[in-house]
Formats: sequence, structure tokens, C-alpha cells
Amino acid sequence: MTQHTTDVTTDRPDDTTDTVDTADTTDSAEAAATRADWWHDAVIYQVYPRSFADSDGDGMGDLPGVTARLPYLRRLGVDAVWLSPFYASPQADAGYDVADYRVVDPVFGTLADADDLVRRAHALGLRVIVDIVPNHCSEKHEWFRRALAEGPASALRERFHFRPGRGPRGELPPNDWESVFGGPAWTRTTNPDGTPGDWYLHLFAPEQPDFDWQHPAVHEEFRSILRFWLDLGVDGFRIDVAHGLIKAAGLPDVGHPEQVKLLGSAPVPYFDQDGVHEIYREWRALLDSYDGERIAVAEAWTPTVERSALYLRPDELHQAFNFTYLMTGWDATALRAVIDRSLDAMNAVAAPATWVLSNHDVVRHATRFADGDPDRGLRRARAATLLMLALPGSAYLYQGEELGLPEVTDLPDEVRQDPAFFRGSAQEGPGQEGTRDGCRVPMPWSGTRPPFGFGPAEDGPSWLPQPAAWRDLTAEAQEGDPASTLELYRAALALRRAHPALGAGRAVEWLPAPEGVLAFRRTAEGAGGAAQEPGGARSLVVTVNLTGRPVTVPAPGTPLLCSLNSRAPGADLGGPGSDAVLPPDSTVWWAA
Ligand code: GLC
Repeated sequence: MTQHTTDVTTDRPDDTTDTVDTADTTDSAEAAATRADWWHDAVIYQVYPRSFADSDGDGMGDLPGVTARLPYLRRLGVDAVWLSPFYASPQADAGYDVADYRVVDPVFGTLADADDLVRRAHALGLRVIVDIVPNHCSEKHEWFRRALAEGPASALRERFHFRPGRGPRGELPPNDWESVFGGPAWTRTTNPDGTPGDWYLHLFAPEQPDFDWQHPAVHEEFRSILRFWLDLGVDGFRIDVAHGLIKAAGLPDVGHPEQVKLLGSAPVPYFDQDGVHEIYREWRALLDSYDGERIAVAEAWTPTVERSALYLRPDELHQAFNFTYLMTGWDATALRAVIDRSLDAMNAVAAPATWVLSNHDVVRHATRFADGDPDRGLRRARAATLLMLALPGSAYLYQGEELGLPEVTDLPDEVRQDPAFFRGSAQEGPGQEGTRDGCRVPMPWSGTRPPFGFGPAEDGPSWLPQPAAWRDLTAEAQEGDPASTLELYRAALALRRAHPALGAGRAVEWLPAPEGVLAFRRTAEGAGGAAQEPGGARSLVVTVNLTGRPVTVPAPGTPLLCSLNSRAPGADLGGPGSDAVLPPDSTVWWAA
């Protein structure tokens, strides 16, 4: 193999620019390319493009900004990047309202920028997953614009859900469905002659009309869109609202007052209908017709992990987000139960489990776990991350969690952009303050004043304001500090690479532990024969102290990593044959 030793450097203005030697990355890229099951234990980092890095100074992140920071992600130690939508969009729902699925929105760059991003990522050994939004499009999508303009007789209306209203003059919505963002899931149209017309369905904002997946043209169009991005080289898709595509025949009323938002506890006629699985079988066949392992991960908010597992039958999708895990609090019994139940459900369909703590729709976990005390929140968030990264399967990280970013809870109303805020579907939750903007505040990279290196200019704009206190949380400020969250993530991800046991297999072996403490063993069975770990450790033990007090246990081995400090794991923890005092709200990885 030819060794390339060119430096991949970026042209970023600040001094946190990473340099990566491609002799090393070429090797890993080749190794990754030949690993058929790369996604079984991959750590996948979600980039929210508008908030990641702004290369042109307009206050919005963009694709060249992401490309410039790929070496940072490579150094962080993740395996893949998932990009939230960057397609042509009026941005009524931050790009989840797509007007053209094959065009990059000028705010984010060009198709050439997307191509460049994928190429550079692959050169660094990183996979790239892009978002696909098949449940709905933008009201500016050509099909929908024409469906409206051509009037009730337009054949294009069959690709959406147009219905006459109820009531003597059709003045009431066709059924009782509510939008996830609040208000009725129907908007009435005006006919080209100015008279009131039919209604159309939108499970989200009125600017996001739902496709009717009973129409063959919709199937054909999405197969073509998938091929478009696969041909460009992407490694897979995150499927937005994967559980929503098929609606129950006849669009029956829900009929009970408990309308189900994203995570339903009761069945509703617009989510998780059995018919969706047919679509994913079609998509799987298409993905399998490409070389390499191209994957799809479902955003499917279903009532149970068992329902989610149905999306992962062998001829369907590869992964589904584990939102039940995400929604579980900082509680030993509840966490153990959800881990067991998730593994059982996924094993039943021979799919790897996934784990996630944060994303662009929920309160950041450092704040969710805080119970009013930000220091406690960060401590627990770090411990939760080490727990997650030691579980069998694949883990999803959300940009900024590696910096320990909290939710921003005091955004002034006039800067908010989340349609959920304006339509009154304020999601309750600690620190949520009714909107998802608080987890979408742009990343702080460097410097001491906003925008903290987010854009090229020192005093440049950012689409949401960053708290001044983030000066201490920039990547630059945390670099090299063993107590920092960034260095903890780097250490954890490096150890996870060195010890395949951490992500391997399909089960955890629970060990006896005092109340409020979880202890389990991870061995490398099924992890490429790496039973003998580097450093001599045959297996690892993980202890999680979920209590607020120190707990003394017999030391299970030699400490490798503690969530409190990445480089001094052994400080007070003892070693084989002695007692160990597990600090409050901490996770420790032990070689044992
Ligand atoms: C998904 C996205 C969310 C978006 C919604 C509508 O839940 O994650 O951000 O608002 O779909 O597309």
C-alpha cells in the first residue's frame, strides 16, 4: 500500500486547528472500508450544520465549516458523522422542511461542498450519514406548489393528503389529529379562484405537508433521492419521522383526548402503522445493492423498544434510536431495566442496540440530569457518557456534549426560531422553557467572547446568542486539561478503540453491587478475537455510582478511566485486593 504523508490541515482562523497525518488515517480508512459490520459498534457524532461552524461569517454554520472541523472529530475518536438536513429549504423547521432534496441550501454551501465533505471525511476514516426527510416536504416543494396552484383537479394532490373539511361548509378539519407542534394537523387551502378549498395534512408545521406514501410516485422519488446521495458516496441515512409515513386507511379520528406527540404511549392512526415496514424493505434492498455497508437508522418514536425492534428485522433497517434509553432518568434500577430490555428486544431481531443521551430535539443531558444544580448535571452527564460508551452496540453523540455544554435556558423570545415555540407545543422538561432552540446554540470553539470562533470574525454574528460563560467551555479552553469534558471524551473513545470489548457483543454481565450502584463486566467475545486486550486486560468492569454519596466496594481491578478526571483515574480508587471508594455520580472503567 502506498503511504501518503500529506498533512490534512484546515484553513481555520484560530489556533485549535488540528493537523492529522494521513499515513495513519489512510490505514484506518482502508480498514474501516473493509469492516462489513462497522455500524455494529460505531460511535456516531451528530452535526447540526447550522450550529457547528460558520466558514463565511453569515452567522449560520455551513458545510465548509464542518469540513474544516473534520480533523477535530477524527481526533475526538468518533467513527462516523451524521449531518442534520442541509438541503434547499425555507427553514420553517430548521431544514426539516425540504424544498429540493437534491440541492444544498445556499446557506449551507453547494453540492460541491457536500462532495468535498464526504471525500475529506473518508480520507480521515470517518463515515458520513445524511438525514432524509420522507414523511413531509416543504410547502415550497415543486409538487406541493403545483398541487396548490393547479387547484382541486391537480393530480399532484394525490401525492399528499388533501381532503374536504367537515361541517356544512367544510369549515372544520377532516379529522381530530393534532400537529406535533401544536394546533390541528390540517390547514385549509384557498382555491385558485379565491374560494375556500380542501384541507391538507401536516403532522408538523403547516409549512411541512405530509406525503401520501400510498402513491407509487412518492416511492419512486425517494428511491431516486436515496440513490442520488449514495452515488455521491454517503454511508447511510438517518430517517426522519420513520414511524410516520403510513397513515391508517381512511384517516380515522384518534377519538381520545390523549393525542400522541413524538413518543406515543398509546397507538395512534398516524404513527407506527404496520405498513411502514414495506417501505423499509424496499429501501434495504436498495442500500444492499451498493458496495460497502450503507446503513439506515430510524428516528422512530414508538411506544416500546419492542415496537422499535420491528424496524430492524433482517430485511429492514440497520439501527433505530433508543429514545426509551434517552428518556430514562439518573436511576440505577430504571437504567438497568432499560438496558436489559433494549438488549433483549434487539437480540430478538439480531440487530445491534443503540444508545443516545442528547440530540437537537431534547434538553441536553447535562441539564436534564442536573436537578437544579449544574455541577451535579455535568458530573452525571460525564458518568452517563462512560456508562453509554461501555454498552454493547452503537452510540450516538450530539455536538457539544463533548464540551459538557448545558441547555441554554434564557434565550430571549425574539431570537427563538423553533416552530414548536410559536405554535405553543412547549415541551415540558427541566430547562426546556418550551423550545428546542436551547440545545441548538452554536458551538464555542475558541477565544473569550462570542461567537467563540464559531464564525471567522471575532465579533461576527451567530444565529442564536451564546452565553458569555461558554468562554470556559470552548474546545480551545478544554484542550489538554485532563479534568475537562473534552479530554474525558477523547480518552474514553481512545480506550473504546483499544478495548473492543467495550462496544462488542450483545449482552452485559451484571455483577453484584450495592444499592444505587451498577456494576457489569464486558468481555471481548465476538469482538474480532481480541480476548487479550492491549495492556493485558482480558475484560473490563464498569461501575456506575448513581448515588450522591461515596460508596465503598472491593476494587474490581485496576482503574483505567474515571468520569471525574481522564488522566488520574487511580487517584483514590485503589486497585486489585483493596477497597475502592466510588465517588458520587461517577463511572469508572476497570481492567479486570
Ligand atoms: C424530527 C426532527 C425534528 C423535526 C421533525 C419534523 O423529529 O428530529 O427536528 O422538527 O422531525 O421533521
